Amino acid sequence: MSDAAKMVAAVYDQIGDKPSDDISLSPSDDEYMIRCENLVKIYKTDEVEVVALQGLDLDVKRGELMAIVGNSGSGKSTLLNMLGGLDKPSAGSLFVDGKNLLKFSDKDYMEYKRNTVGFVWQNNARNLIPYLTAVQNVELPMLLKGSKQRRRKALELLEKVGLSHRKNSRLDQMSGGEQQRVAIAIALANDPRLLLADEPTGSVDTRTSNIILDIFKRLNETEGLTVVIVTHDVKLSKRIDRVVAIRDGRTSSEIVRKRSYAQELDEMGNIVGSEEESTEETHEELVVLDRSGRLQLPKEHMEKLGIRGGDKVKVELDEETGRMYLFRSGG
Ligand SMILES: Nc1ncnc2c1ncn2[C@@H]1O[C@H](COP(=O)(O)OP(=O)(O)OP(=O)(O)O)[C@@H](O)[C@H]1O
Ligand SMILES: [Mg+2]
Repeated sequence: MSDAAKMVAAVYDQIGDKPSDDISLSPSDDEYMIRCENLVKIYKTDEVEVVALQGLDLDVKRGELMAIVGNSGSGKSTLLNMLGGLDKPSAGSLFVDGKNLLKFSDKDYMEYKRNTVGFVWQNNARNLIPYLTAVQNVELPMLLKGSKQRRRKALELLEKVGLSHRKNSRLDQMSGGEQQRVAIAIALANDPRLLLADEPTGSVDTRTSNIILDIFKRLNETEGLTVVIVTHDVKLSKRIDRVVAIRDGRTSSEIVRKRSYAQELDEMGNIVGSEEESTEETHEELVVLDRSGRLQLPKEHMEKLGIRGGDKVKVELDEETGRMYLFRSGG
């Protein structure tokens, strides 16, 4: 067995699961844009091996807009890079848009990046040219691809991100938020079905971050684009209906809106400026069962109960109320 295979086997051993070659996920499962099961990513350098994803499960429906949160180092960017086809998972299963990414050849990866996904980063230095205008920047990737009617398409894309009026401004004469919107226009240039954004509002203020989220929401609502946003921004995540938290390379909990944001705005009527106060009780945090029915208890709850990983607990079901109770063994 190769070193990498041994590492993967060790990870699955630890999480009590076999590698899932024989996947229950159906590639033709049309309802889902992303189906990710037991995903493992191990980074190997000369000295260290880092298990960045250790058996992560995540499903995202077509046309969904959701966020991923988690501490620094929890594996958010790693996951996004796997979804974006920028890097290959070590094991597990990953289907995006019905395609099995673990079976991809280099050519498949290239086509996937070209046709299926769009990517937005926090720092856009890597895909924007400062001395070109906004519209030239948007045209550039299309030029490389040899697309026809580049100018018309580039102007259309700038309109989608609300920047028509700045089309002839040089990038280095635009604000960080405006540059970020140009980057979003570029990410949309190949008409992706899935838009991935890693900390897209990481370096802008609240107002600009709201504008950026509004653009994602509009694209999601009007064009059915599936959007996955990695964010540290609590205010931003409160405006998103489904937020999945990652801990140590696994999904740990899910925060869902009790009411949709649209519904909430509706109920608020015309009360202006109360958005901030009204977000208090709108979300509830849920623990996610993995596909085998295991659940990861929140750390705080375990501390309060005085239990640790490896301990045994008693589980009782009250069928009448549909509630389940956990008891510390001997307690
Ligand atoms: N190319 C790499 N080589 C080696 N280790 C890596 C590599 N990329 C990420 N890691 C490690 O994998 C783990 C997960 O990193 P990742 O970048 O996914 O975290 P993150 O959740 O995006 O954090 P942040 O919020 O700080 O961006 C970390 O321990 C990190 O050091
Ligand atoms: Mg990151």
